[in-house]
Amino acid sequence: MKEGAAAADIRVLILAGGMSYEHEVSLKSGRRAADALQRLGFACYTRDLDGELLPALQEFPPDVVLPLVHGQPGEDGSLQAVLELLGLPIVGTGSTGARRAWNKIAAKDLLRTAGIPTPDWTSMPRQAFSDFGARKLLDRIAAKMGLPLVVKPNSGGSGLGVHAVHKEDDFPSAMMGCFSYSDTALIESFVEGRDIAVGVIDLGDGPVALPPVEIAPLHGDYDYAARYNPGATRWTVPAALSEPVAARTAELALEVHRTLGLGDMSRVDLIVDDAGGIQVLEANVAPGTTETSLLPMAIEAAGLDFGEVLATMVRQALART
Ligand SMILES: Nc1ncnc2c1ncn2[C@@H]1O[C@H](COP(=O)(O)OP(=O)(O)O)[C@@H](O)[C@H]1O
Ligand SMILES: [Mg+2]
Repeated sequence: MKEGAAAADIRVLILAGGMSYEHEVSLKSGRRAADALQRLGFACYTRDLDGELLPALQEFPPDVVLPLVHGQPGEDGSLQAVLELLGLPIVGTGSTGARRAWNKIAAKDLLRTAGIPTPDWTSMPRQAFSDFGARKLLDRIAAKMGLPLVVKPNSGGSGLGVHAVHKEDDFPSAMMGCFSYSDTALIESFVEGRDIAVGVIDLGDGPVALPPVEIAPLHGDYDYAARYNPGATRWTVPAALSEPVAARTAELALEVHRTLGLGDMSRVDLIVDDAGGIQVLEANVAPGTTETSLLPMAIEAAGLDFGEVLATMVRQALART
């Protein structure tokens, strides 16, 4: 029963880096989390993923693992499955929940079945373009769904490969851009509105929604550059939403968290339109924890300390073993 042990006796391994396009972001997330836990006295160390990870974990098993690897294989459930095979407690979400959230199309199916609003969509694997003819398919999709649309990789993050299509001529290049990140495209109806993110944390009494954060890129879209260049985006927390709309974003984020079976923390991305209508875009199981990331911002806005929250989750993970 190590959960009551002194922080210095608890070895926390932070996994950060990885092989995805979000490598640098993950390293920053890892550093911020490591600083916060070290400040509280935890025996915390950070490691990247490589071929030596498995033997290293077997030889010197940590007490708890905090996976902060964005993208694949950190968020698609495979890293979690490996950690589960080794019997190592994980802070965050297990392999099943991670897999559900990672596949945006599968997640949207589950959300819609649960009655959670999410934009209309269709999906198209790259192969279908050669099988059926790209132009004909795109014309059909545009005619059926109407413009504008958003094309995005079925699995991915940080806005990479996400493109809005306002006129048909932009459709082919949006698809090509998307296919460089994922073999399947998710094509969604464009929802006009404000970008809102709601963090969900579970500190032992069940999942709780944090204050909503509004994201307003100062120029153009909320893309990779807007997310990680200081000064490129304005974040407002709590978001300026009316009380009932704010409450509904919290409710929906909790429903998404539960429907997908997510664990200690998640971040649910939504769009709120001018009339207060809300559409859920996606859920993230390894939310960024960099200096400009939304989850730590929301934790602080809730009057909580980011390090203390992680510490509680570490002890919670230990108690699950
Ligand atoms: N259906 C949509 N309508 C309008 N904007 C969208 C839509 N889908 C995505 N976006 C924009 O693209 C961003 C990234 O999309 P998201 O689905 O959250 O993917 P990622 O995993 O890359 O964060 C969103 O934050 C939003 O600004
Ligand atoms: Mg997102």
